[in-house]
Amino acid sequence: MWLVTGGAGYIGAHVVRHLQRSGRQVAVIDDLSTGVRAKVDAAVPFVHASVGDRDAVRQAIRDLGVTGVLHLAAKKAVGESVERPLWYWQENVGCLQVLLEEMADAGVQRFVYTSSAAVYGQPDSTALITEDSACRPINPYGATKLAGEWMTSATAERFGWSAMSLRYFNVAGAGADDLCDPGVFNLIPIVFRALDSNERPKIFGSDYPTPDGTCVRDYVHVDDLADAHVQACAYVEANPGAGNTILNIGTGRGSSVREVLEIVSAVTGRDASGEAVARRAGDPAQLVAAVNRATEVLGWHSSRDVTDMVDSAWRAWQLKAE
Ligand code: UFG
Repeated sequence: MWLVTGGAGYIGAHVVRHLQRSGRQVAVIDDLSTGVRAKVDAAVPFVHASVGDRDAVRQAIRDLGVTGVLHLAAKKAVGESVERPLWYWQENVGCLQVLLEEMADAGVQRFVYTSSAAVYGQPDSTALITEDSACRPINPYGATKLAGEWMTSATAERFGWSAMSLRYFNVAGAGADDLCDPGVFNLIPIVFRALDSNERPKIFGSDYPTPDGTCVRDYVHVDDLADAHVQACAYVEANPGAGNTILNIGTGRGSSVREVLEIVSAVTGRDASGEAVARRAGDPAQLVAAVNRATEVLGWHSSRDVTDMVDSAWRAWQLKAE
């Protein structure tokens, strides 16, 4: 039985469905602070609790016969992490400590951890980012994700676990019309909201050293990301005692803000060309993943492009708005 923490969230709900389709037994623990119960199949055992609730975690692991954990539950808003750093350390690191302790106590030895490209901070160059690139987070969110990787490595080493830390790049799209990203924190939903209110999308900076002057990111479809989780489970199942393996999860291809806006215009039939405004603090010019390690280790690679992401996200967004 795989326990998915944060399984009622945007990404977690996709992961749960993909794991079910792979034939695995799945249960969810989620405090529903941002998650939505209805996104999880009623047949999936559901524990309404925080991962920091030691008794609930212990009971869930024991009663459900958990043999592996995918830990997605976390706070993920960069700006909020700057406002409330200690809360981020509590939620992302304190709760993880409880979870790892309870897994160790119960002898659960398979772990998949959600990390982020935020661990890399502001890379010095615009080269592809490998897993061996320097990790210098520039905000508390990125710092907590990196600390979580360290905790995972040390625990996996100590207890002979097989673990995997997946560094997500820019996740977008929807795998089903009811699985829209409910938060409006990232470029694509922000642009949709601007279109809905007849405002021009804002382009944060047009003087970056990139081909069209706007920031380049590696957008990865949430369905591809969910597939990577299924592959990660298969890997830790097949390789006991392998320690913590760290993988970038992206496409290896960058898209500029302007390119994304052009695709939004084409998909929605509305003018999303946007207006350039000042740079946003802390944005690296380019952040694109080297993904060969994920392919070597998991046999995984992305198969959907930015048009698929915008198209699926737009359909889900319109349903959400109704
Ligand atoms: N952008 C705009 N206009 C907007 C919103 C965003 O031009 O209205 C630009 C940003 O400047 C950036 C790109 O669109 O260049 C993507 O921005 P997002 O806010 O969607 O994503 P980020 O790349 O800033 O951050 C994402 C995740 C973070 C994670 C980070 C890791 O949202 O959680 O990747 O690098 F920390």
